Amino acid sequence: MNPDRLIEIAQRMMAPGKGILAADESTGTIAKRLRAVGVESTADTRRDYRELLFTAPDIERYISGVILFDETLRQASSSGKLFPHLLEARGILPGIKVDQGAKDFAAHPGEKVTEGLDGLRERFAEYYELGARFSKWRAVITIEVDSGHPSTACIAANAHALARYAALAQEANIVPIVEPEVLIDGAHTQAQCEAATARTLERVFAELTAQGVLLEGMVLKPSMVIAGKQCPEQSAVEAVAAVTLRTLCRYVPAAVGGIAFLSGGQSPEQATAHLDAMNRRGPLPWPLTFSYARALQNPVLDMWRGQAQQAAAAARAFAFRARLNHLARQGRYESDMERDAG
Ligand code: 13P
Repeated sequence: MNPDRLIEIAQRMMAPGKGILAADESTGTIAKRLRAVGVESTADTRRDYRELLFTAPDIERYISGVILFDETLRQASSSGKLFPHLLEARGILPGIKVDQGAKDFAAHPGEKVTEGLDGLRERFAEYYELGARFSKWRAVITIEVDSGHPSTACIAANAHALARYAALAQEANIVPIVEPEVLIDGAHTQAQCEAATARTLERVFAELTAQGVLLEGMVLKPSMVIAGKQCPEQSAVEAVAAVTLRTLCRYVPAAVGGIAFLSGGQSPEQATAHLDAMNRRGPLPWPLTFSYARALQNPVLDMWRGQAQQAAAAARAFAFRARLNHLARQGRYESDMERDAG
């Protein structure tokens, strides 16, 4: 492990005005997203879609890194250039999702634990050779107040795995994105989300510290503290910003290299507005940016729909969304900017 290298990469990921594109949907998830816009998922359509994203105009001004799925890290663009090389040539860091998915947690119906630690040291060595400089592992925490979820056991098992993953990543000189996602699904209140997020973050950082993870050489990817989608009382933008920051300030050490949020099922506009509202409340102990998948990609998929003649407009839609988040990263986004779309 080379601490200086790790810190330098983490700082590049969190470069001023920039954030991360999550384009690491597993084969199953990308098939769902493509099918929703009438496109059959094949190696070629997946490549065409990802190429559209990675070659979009100007995105190197807004995007510091892209998280890839294993297939994409090994895939070449239509011009024959491997995707990690194509990204590097634009000054964008290639990253790799290394977890193998959230599986049913034994003895805890309704809860999940993320798998993928076996053989991970060897996989990291190969991913580094292929060009990956950072990685991601996603843990899933479900809130269901009536069932007592999240259970302490679920939080502990996921936190332990996150820390084992992060230590292995750093050993390979790969910056770990540590992603404990508290799901937005459900009828829970914002206060219940705050409690579950607090318990999760507290345990995650206890494990990271216990297992010797260099905090300056990692990035936290949390969910925002927000009411569940089915909660009758939805949180206002300012309340999401205030309570999310309160929770992060309580449980995330200032040494952490940066925080890059997931969008978690928020609309693109909401995810941008929330990030903006938080950055307006600075100065903060850590840089605060985005690492969105759906909130960056949904408008692009909608515009593209597998039509070659729509590819340029779809790429512009991606650059537009990336630029708005680049502004939100600096607390300079205004909702009427949305009118300039397309
Ligand atoms: P969303 O922004 O769609 O939540 O995805 C981010 C991500 O990488 C989930 O692991």
